[in-house]
Amino acid sequence: PLSRSVSMTSLSGLPPWEDEGLPVEDLLLFEVAWEVTNKVGGIYTVIQTKSKITVDEWGENYFLMGPYYEHNCKTQVEVCEAPNPAIKKTMDCLSSSGCQVRFGRWLIEGCPYVILFDIGAAAWNLDRWKGEFWDTCGIGLPFHDREANDALIFGSMVAWFFKELTDQLQDMPNVIAHFHEWQAGAGLILCRSRKVPMATIFTTHATLLGRYLCAGNVDFYNNLDKIYHRYCLERAAVHCSHVFSTVSQITAVEADHILHRKPDVVTPNGLNVKKFSAMHEFQNLHSTNKAKIQEFVRGHFYGHLDFNLEKTLYFFIAGRYEFSNKGADIFLESLSRLNYLLRVHKSDMTVVVFFIMPAKTNNFNVETLKGQAVRKQLWDTAHSVKEKFGKRLYESLLKGEIPDMNKILDRDDFTIMKRAIYATQRHSLPPVTTHNMLEDSTDPILSNVRRIGLFNARTDRVKVVFHPEFLSSTSPLLPMDYEEFVRGCHLGVFPSYYEPWGYTPGECTVMGIPSVTTNLSGFGCFVEEHVSDPAAYGIYIVDRRFRAADESCNQLTHFMFAFCQQTRRQRIIQRNRTERLSDLLDWKYLGRVMGLPRTGSRHRPNPLRHRAPPLSE
Ligand code: UDP
Ligand code: G6P
Ligand code: GLC
Repeated sequence: PLSRSVSMTSLSGLPPWEDEGLPVEDLLLFEVAWEVTNKVGGIYTVIQTKSKITVDEWGENYFLMGPYYEHNCKTQVEVCEAPNPAIKKTMDCLSSSGCQVRFGRWLIEGCPYVILFDIGAAAWNLDRWKGEFWDTCGIGLPFHDREANDALIFGSMVAWFFKELTDQLQDMPNVIAHFHEWQAGAGLILCRSRKVPMATIFTTHATLLGRYLCAGNVDFYNNLDKIYHRYCLERAAVHCSHVFSTVSQITAVEADHILHRKPDVVTPNGLNVKKFSAMHEFQNLHSTNKAKIQEFVRGHFYGHLDFNLEKTLYFFIAGRYEFSNKGADIFLESLSRLNYLLRVHKSDMTVVVFFIMPAKTNNFNVETLKGQAVRKQLWDTAHSVKEKFGKRLYESLLKGEIPDMNKILDRDDFTIMKRAIYATQRHSLPPVTTHNMLEDSTDPILSNVRRIGLFNARTDRVKVVFHPEFLSSTSPLLPMDYEEFVRGCHLGVFPSYYEPWGYTPGECTVMGIPSVTTNLSGFGCFVEEHVSDPAAYGIYIVDRRFRAADESCNQLTHFMFAFCQQTRRQRIIQRNRTERLSDLLDWKYLGRVMGLPRTGSRHRPNPLRHRAPPLSE
């Protein structure tokens, strides 16, 4: 959130009222993004995690604006009347012209107000709005680009809303609108071209061209018709805004080159850090959630459980499925090297690696479901034999006798147990993927698994499980939500090549789970700047900037191999240290401009800038 004391005039020549430091009561703050109540990736996390502290500061004067989706609205929003009369009137005005706009409270921490615009219901205006947009800024959107068309419908409604609202409000209160990413950009461009009296901020969380160029193997030529007009839209929004910001220094440099404007301010992404009253509660959570992952592993690897679960580590990568941008390519290559190292060193450790990246699927596959069914059957068998055993033991003790242990179970019991064991025989290896993949033969993760031959053989010390769907606590297979899963793992591995910020490693940190990131991610650079020995605090930074891919793979392999050599005690100490970095990522600091603890500045010194003692201490 923008602190009320921030003067934007000094940054980029905003209207004079900001310089005078108006009280919050005289301002209305709007935040506009495609991911408001609509989870796609990290932008949702930005908005959702900072809502609490923004509401604390702005109270009733803070509003989020996003697209209306029936399912999202029904499950996340408590619909109500807008208490602000000007907003209510504005909404009535849009509704009476055939647009559907909903108002409510988003049921997340802080319960911010949301205003949701129904794209489908306003789509009949598309041709007219396209014409107007063309007349305004000379950007034409092709008919087949659904995403860009939706962004224009959204933007046109948002601009219309602000025009009406500022007409209603006259002079006071003043309006500040913060737009995120190109999908919200059309609204900003239209507001400015129509001279709507408001202050605007545009934050970009990536550049379109940067993402496309870095992805390398995307089908560039067949995507060309989606790139140029989106790029124009993004660039126009950047140049129309009063204040332009981005989420990291590395993306600031990229924006300067690709969009030709230096961001006025860099606003690193924070998290809403929750402290437990008991210091080691997060360690207990690791234990209980690891037990849940172990249950899944028992089922998935049934018949092949010749590895010791007490000496098994869980690594994972998770996020949108951008194979090389997210570094899944070098991760797989490094896993193959790790497998080799663990084998030649005759290590007794096993690593089970999860890939949580959504792809097109046709539900869970039979083999995977069967694994969990077999596990359940073994559990039920053990349970019923245990009951019988207990009953007979009890009866015997009542008679004052110690029973003959060889006779306490009869032949039937042994038959049931043998049958259960026979059912665990399998003729195939434990599957690599948990779902039926629609594009199995061309899928990049599966193709690379085939190439490196990590098929979950008994001799492999590294096992792979590809779960091509985001996690959910209602899944019949792995009933855990993402946070529980992260807590139960040992190491998150995010060796991204293109990553303006990258929430996933930071989320690991605040949960006390070590992770791997890179010096090409905004987060990795931020940590390098603020922590002097990140690895000691459980943040391993792979150099992807100044080394060739093969060397980066070696470095990543080395990090993972060294991690496998730690004792349990060292892992526990490291988790404690990791969790101590949480404050650095808290919106409590990052929500204020210049609020970050940092050595050498006039602010309070950062205790983490000294070298940490080795993990044995
Ligand atoms: N995420 C999730 N469920 C999963 C995997 C990831 O909710 O199974 C979330 C994760 O918590 C993070 C976001 O997806 O907040 C990804 O954000 P990030 O900034 O890492 O990448 P982006 O997708 O924005 O490029
Ligand atoms: C937590 C728990 C310990 C447990 C440990 C396992 O620290 O509090 O009771 O022994 O996790 O750690 P590991 O790294 O082996 O999963
Ligand atoms: C983008 C970036 C990601 C960043 C997120 C939130 O989607 O890909 O790196 O963390 O936005 O800023």
